[in-house]
Amino acid sequence: DEDPNAVERPPVITIMGHVDHGKTSLLDAIRNAKVTEGEAGGITQHIGAYTVSQDGKDITFIDTPGHAAFSNMRQRGTDITDIVIIVVAADDGVKPQTLEVIKLAKESGKPIIVALNKMDKETANPDLVKGQMAEHGISPVDWGGDIEFVPVSAKTGMGIDDLLENILLTAEVLELKANPNAKAKAAVVESSLEKGRGPVATVIVQNGTLKIGDHVVCGAAYGRVKALINDMGKNIKSVAPSHTAVTVGLNEVPPAGEILMAMDSDKEAKEYALKRKEYERNKELSKSTKSSLEDMTAMIAEGKLKSLKVVLKTDVHGSLEAIKSSLSELRNEEVKIDIISSGVGGITESDVELVANSENCVLLGFNVRPTGSVKALAKQKNVDIRTYSIIYQLLDDITMMLTGMMA
Ligand code: GTP
Ligand code: NA
Ligand code: MG
Repeated sequence: DEDPNAVERPPVITIMGHVDHGKTSLLDAIRNAKVTEGEAGGITQHIGAYTVSQDGKDITFIDTPGHAAFSNMRQRGTDITDIVIIVVAADDGVKPQTLEVIKLAKESGKPIIVALNKMDKETANPDLVKGQMAEHGISPVDWGGDIEFVPVSAKTGMGIDDLLENILLTAEVLELKANPNAKAKAAVVESSLEKGRGPVATVIVQNGTLKIGDHVVCGAAYGRVKALINDMGKNIKSVAPSHTAVTVGLNEVPPAGEILMAMDSDKEAKEYALKRKEYERNKELSKSTKSSLEDMTAMIAEGKLKSLKVVLKTDVHGSLEAIKSSLSELRNEEVKIDIISSGVGGITESDVELVANSENCVLLGFNVRPTGSVKALAKQKNVDIRTYSIIYQLLDDITMMLTGMMA
């Protein structure tokens, strides 16, 4: 099923790791090391994805929340990551979210590279970390295993070239290809409603070339590509495979993880989108309870919600504290998270009552489930209970809500 017109394309990399182990710093360091001065001036704020060049070869990175984009796309079957980089702080070692990331990375079947970050610190102990990782099935090559561990420092820039060279070596083996002449197919990494621009979506092109003027469909959204803005903030005319751009011209905001496709005509794009919309409406109708999370997300996107209340229940104290502290770190300029109640134990009727009586409140459970009678009460009160067994997925959902793009 190989396309005879496919040619080599750059690898797409997702960086994941425990909180504060330096994912964002590492991405910044890579970008700073590889972007020329003049170009850097054009970078103003958060960019969902970008491409750098190493030895004349391009590499595309998906920026934070990398794990959100990653698990969201995997949920939707939109797998765009070619290589996973697990960041572990060499002075801190394997932590709960490192384990979750290892699990996600292994499940994905993608090649893994470990970046041992914070090597500039005196307390860095790479051998200890290697031992911890090996215990969880991530065995270093220099210990006879099959995973490259690259010592780096996002602070000093040490090891960045090594990391990029490792990525290129890994990519070479993968023989990644795409056909630049095919009809464009791209994955949405993040999306939002922007003043003056309307719905915008940062996409990574998977196949074909996305061009200004293309008639496109993206889930239930459709439109004609009016503008493409690259990761330097410059207007461009087309986007090649594995490259990224902010796409302007859709009639509504598509969710992250959605696929954008070029169609033959405006008519075809519109028909496809309408069919999809009808399908989603039917799916929604067949659900017994209305998902108020979607309403809250819409309110956040429209700037109508200033505080998102949370009731949180977990199985053990450790995860309660971890989730509470992670939630308090999630932020959006306009919306604050207010944990109105939290505790260890199952989701009870009084939790449901509390959420039902609080405006704009979500009920989250971690490794706990509601009983049948609690579920029945929730249904009656229109309370949406969200349960998780992976902290990342919980945080991803809330992050998605805060960015107004709950899946
Ligand atoms: P979250 O996105 O919150 O999960 O964190 P992160 O993994 O993106 O970590 P971030 O880049 O925010 O870094 C966390 C802290 O570690 C910051 O204070 C950084 O300055 C510091 N840090 C990151 N990399 C290094 C490093 O290589 N050396 C040292 N000394 N500090 C680092
Ligand atoms: Na951080
Ligand atoms: Mg970060």
